[in-house]
Amino acid sequence: MRDAYDRVFAENPRHALQYSTTEGDPELRTAVAERLTARGLPTGADDLLVTTGSQQALTLLTTALVEPGAVVLVENPCYLAALQTFGFAGARVVPVPTDDQGLLPAALEEIAAREKPTLLYVVPTFQNPTGRTLPAERRAAVAEAAARHGFWIVETTRTANCATTASASLDRRRPRGGRPHRPARLLLQGDGPGLRLGYLRAPAGLRRSCVIAKQAADLHTSTIDQAAAARYLRDRDLDAHVAVIRAAYQERRDAMLEGLPAALPEGSRWNRPEGGMFIWASLPEGTTPRRS
Ligand SMILES: Cc1ncc(COP(=O)(O)O)c(C=O)c1O
Repeated sequence: MRDAYDRVFAENPRHALQYSTTEGDPELRTAVAERLTARGLPTGADDLLVTTGSQQALTLLTTALVEPGAVVLVENPCYLAALQTFGFAGARVVPVPTDDQGLLPAALEEIAAREKPTLLYVVPTFQNPTGRTLPAERRAAVAEAAARHGFWIVETTRTANCATTASASLDRRRPRGGRPHRPARLLLQGDGPGLRLGYLRAPAGLRRSCVIAKQAADLHTSTIDQAAAARYLRDRDLDAHVAVIRAAYQERRDAMLEGLPAALPEGSRWNRPEGGMFIWASLPEGTTPRRS
């Protein structure tokens, strides 16, 4: 990354610290679009809006979609900062029950029919905070429910897993029975979180609303950071770097799993996530968790 910043300053110093467009650096958007397309999610640079972290993408989508009192469905349990975002917007947050594999499609169906939600927020792969990954057939069921009841799917995922997202199948589907066709996808750039770079992939109308909301929020994401990220993607092999990170996290997960039996009371249960950063442990009934 230091090389990338040096190159940007050396090659385009006048541009590096200037204002730029709200939509984001065209070279960065092109590079991200190519990566998504290569992973089975056909994407053009203009389908993307660069955001200041994926958290901002969530805020922008909420600004665009959620009126006070609107129903937002979430997994139970759900990523905490998403709950805060929906809460600030005055949403009525309704939890959807889950099991060890994530959202329960039958419960989603029943709640969606009753609550007429505006959107479902879901983290289908290596969920925060449970580490769970939603199986393919449940993703299809979520997509079906969204099409049937006309709610948006807002999902955060890791770049490498975009092709398996719940709403990917909706891109190829026509709206049914005159209901609006409203898949949205929110993608997280999972590495170097302090850079505060993320992006949002959404249908044109919704994306335009998010661009307007972003203008009001911060005009645009840092010019120099976007240019350095684009430069990095051009000059370096991100996949090779991700492979190194993946191996490091795998080692940590294995060490944590090995240590848990001695650390938790007897009768505790936990999962063995295939990726991500979280393990979800349940303590026996009546146990009070406390720091040691
Ligand atoms: C599900 C989820 N969404 C959003 C974020 C925030 O991401 P960012 O740093 O891209 O804003 C995180 C961070 O861990 C997360 O787990």
